[in-house]
Amino acid sequence: MELASLTQENLGKSVSITLRPEQEAFVAPVMQSIAEAYVNPTAWPRLVVDGDDVLAFIMGNFDPDHEIEAFRAGIWRLNVAASAQGRGVGRFAVGGLEEEARDRGVKRISVLWERGEHSPEGFYLKLGFVPTGKELFGETVAFKDLGPRGKMAP
Ligand SMILES: CC(C)(COP(=O)(O)OP(=O)(O)OC[C@H]1O[C@@H](n2cnc3c(N)ncnc32)[C@H](O)[C@@H]1OP(=O)(O)O)[C@@H](O)C(=O)NCCC(=O)NCCS
Repeated sequence: MELASLTQENLGKSVSITLRPEQEAFVAPVMQSIAEAYVNPTAWPRLVVDGDDVLAFIMGNFDPDHEIEAFRAGIWRLNVAASAQGRGVGRFAVGGLEEEARDRGVKRISVLWERGEHSPEGFYLKLGFVPTGKELFGETVAFKDLGPRGKMAP
């Protein structure tokens, strides 16, 4: 697996990433995220690829001067193809975003999620995100402190 930028060649497979139907309420379609990335200079969209296969889409946001801390550095979107779930692809994508954050001198990253059945909550808790107890737009706000490079546990 590796992290890759969007290209003319992989765009078609990227917008075809499909979740399980019951997960669709928890994240925007990749097509919408790519459109948002086009007009948001702070967006950082990437793919997880394995050869020619596109396994996942992740979009970070790095906007260090944003007035709301949760929007200064973090995960904006994450879509792992249903066929690729459950084998570490999501963890790999978040690890890649953490590396990018470290390169930018970021010490902690955020993520927002909706609670409920089929929510990604358990995934983010497992990866070390800690909820603040506050909500933004009805979503749980959580942060993860980034340790030094090479210490990507858990
Ligand atoms: C949530 C999501 C990103 C997880 O991706 P994934 O590739 O299946 O996750 P991984 O295989 O990397 O899982 C890492 C760990 O989290 C656990 N995990 C994954 N999804 C989980 C969930 N929904 N609840 C609890 N634990 C979960 C895995 O069991 C694994 O634990 P392990 O290391 O002990 O085996 C994926 O299911 C997805 O795209 N969901 C739909 C969209 C979504 O909700 N995106 C997030 C928007 S904020």
